[in-house]
Order: sequence, then structure tokens, then C-alpha cells
Amino acid sequence: MKINPFRLERFFDKYEFKVKYVLCASDCESLAVEELLALEPDAPAQLNKLWLGYTEYSGSPALREAISRLYTHIEPGQVVVHTGAEEAIYNFMSVALDPGDHLIVHFPCYQSLAEIAAANGCEVTRWTTREEDGWELDLAFLRKIIQPNTRAIVVNCPHNPTGYLMDAAKQRELIEIAREHNLLLFSDEVYRELEYATADRLPAACDLYENAVSLGVMSKTYGLAGLRIGWVASQNRAILGQMVAHKDYMSMCNSAPGEFLAALALPHREQLAARNLAIIGDNLPILDRFFEKHRAVFNWQRPKAGSIAFPSLRRERDGAEGFCHDLLDKTGVLLIPSTLFDAGNRNFRIGFARRNMPEAVAQLDEYLARI
Ligand SMILES: Cc1ncc(COP(=O)(O)O)c(C=O)c1O
Repeated sequence: MKINPFRLERFFDKYEFKVKYVLCASDCESLAVEELLALEPDAPAQLNKLWLGYTEYSGSPALREAISRLYTHIEPGQVVVHTGAEEAIYNFMSVALDPGDHLIVHFPCYQSLAEIAAANGCEVTRWTTREEDGWELDLAFLRKIIQPNTRAIVVNCPHNPTGYLMDAAKQRELIEIAREHNLLLFSDEVYRELEYATADRLPAACDLYENAVSLGVMSKTYGLAGLRIGWVASQNRAILGQMVAHKDYMSMCNSAPGEFLAALALPHREQLAARNLAIIGDNLPILDRFFEKHRAVFNWQRPKAGSIAFPSLRRERDGAEGFCHDLLDKTGVLLIPSTLFDAGNRNFRIGFARRNMPEAVAQLDEYLARI
């Protein structure tokens, strides 16, 4: 299969490990292995004894059990562990869709949510959201773009890159539409549990709808991207069975240390999420003040959840790409221009779940004073 380059990941490959300040990261401040091992008294001894043979195809029983506890109506047998959320996206798009099928994708989006299906010969329609509408998903528009060959809808809440989170009533209506048309709903929930008010947390789609596939990962909310552990959970066992079989051609099974550490972390997930929400809670007011000070330059919409937002430059002619490149050149601060999301040239992604964010924002502030 020939596929277009993943613009965001190619950009990170070029800059992420070289620049001084990554002010656009979507994952929360990471932990070290020793911090995870300190969560349980016998964890170091267990890790030392960990058997490094092949692991179970769908994921270790202990990990699937821990993952199933994130949901209300999901048993361990309805979870398939993958190497990151990324592999699970690739897998779902490969098995659930045939060439000629139609896919509707919440847009802008994390590129793989649309690109893999397009490369497989599917017809992809962007369910476009706009900054001036608060990035709101429009269900009337969704109804209009469903076609006889539509097979699936992809949504991502809390959303990358905008930080948008739909409300529960909208989620219920979305599921009714999917059910009415017998569509699969691929629900990318990798930023779930990063809602600033718990009341805003949506139920996982897989708990509400028999044909939903919920996507989760250790990377974002829990700050454990290096484990490379993601999963899908669904009541649709047929899709899960196809995904396990197709995974034979990818990672086949997961890393044993990754699975062990993820299973260790998940029972403590509220503690890990609280740590990261506290970092976000410290950083967001700094951003509010920064954007208030520079309100002549930027539009700022404070999200209700997640680790990222997608502000814009007030003057379109300034161009987000030029702005981000010049900023990087002069200060070593990395922001992601909206061109990498194929979403115009006015917005940029900013991340606020890292401890060095205040320092990076101070650099940005000085830069603005200089130019
Ligand atoms: C919306 C979304 N889905 C999936 C992923 C992939 O997660 P991972 O890199 O941990 O596999 C990302 C990563 O940025 C993301 O933002």
C-alpha cells in the first residue's frame, strides 16, 4: 500500500528530540520506570522475574483485566491490546473497511484517522469543524453526508488538535444516528480522563453502542507513551477477532515489559491522571494570561479537556507556518502549524501538560516583544 507521509510525525521526527522547548506535545509529562515501580511494594521483584518470551496475541490477561475496568460493559475478552493507539488505528482501518466503503472523519484530525482508509481505496468525507463555531460537531451536517456505502464514523473526543469535547446529549444523538444507519463508530478516546471537570467526562462509546470501538492508550492521560501500549475495546466481537488475526502481520503481540508496566500503572490511573491534571491546572492560567496579554495577535479558546489547544493568529496574512518556523529559529520553541493538519494556515497546536511549559511560554512572550 502506498500512503502519504504522516505530516505531523515526520515533523516530530525532524524536531522533537533536537529543540529546546516542545511546546506542542500532546502527551502528559512522562514518568520514569522507578516511579511506576514505586506504586506497588513487590513490583521491582516481579519485573526482575518477568519472562521475556512471546506474549499473548490479544494482550496479557492481567492487562486486559485492568483495561476492562475502565469501562462499564466490557469484559477482558472484549479488549485487544496493541503497540500504541497508532497500531490499533491502522488495524481497525485495515479490517473494518473495504475499498469503496465510505468513511466519515471528525476533522481536523490526527492524520492516520483519515489517511489509512484513503490509501486503502475508501472514500473519505471530512466532518469539518470550525474555530468560529467553537469546533462544535454539527449533527445536521453528519446526517447529510451519510451515503448508502457509508460504513463507519470516526470521532475523537477530547480532540486533537482543538481540545474540543462534545456533550453527553450530542454523544447520545450521534450514537442514535450510527445505530439507525447500522454504522461502526470508531471513537478515539486517547485523551479521556483528562476532563478538567469530571462531570464533563463522556461515557466510553463502547459502553453505549454495540458497534462502537473505543480506542485507548497509556501515552496521553497517564504520561506513559514509551510503554507503547494501546488498545481497542468493543462489544463487537467479530471486529475484535478480525483485528487480532490481522495483528499477526504487524506487531503480532506486545512487549512483555510494556504490558507488565501498563498493568501495574492502570489500577493507579486516577493518581496518575490527577498528577497530570495538576500540571495542566497550573499551566492553563498561565496561557490564559498570555493570550489575554496578546489578544490583538491571537484568538484563544480554552478547552474543557485534554493537553492541547489550537489557537489562531488574528491576521491570516501572518501565516501560522511562517510564525512557527521563525519562532523555532529564534527561540528553540516548537509549535505545530495547522498546515500539518491540512487545516489552513492560521492555527497552531500548543501543548500544556509538560512541566517546562511556563519557561517555553516566557520565551514566546519575549519573542513577541522583540518582533
Ligand atoms: C487522537 C490521537 N489518536 C491516536 C494517537 C496515537 O497515540 P500513540 O502515539 O500513543 O500510539 C494520537 C497521538 O498523538 C492522537 O493524538
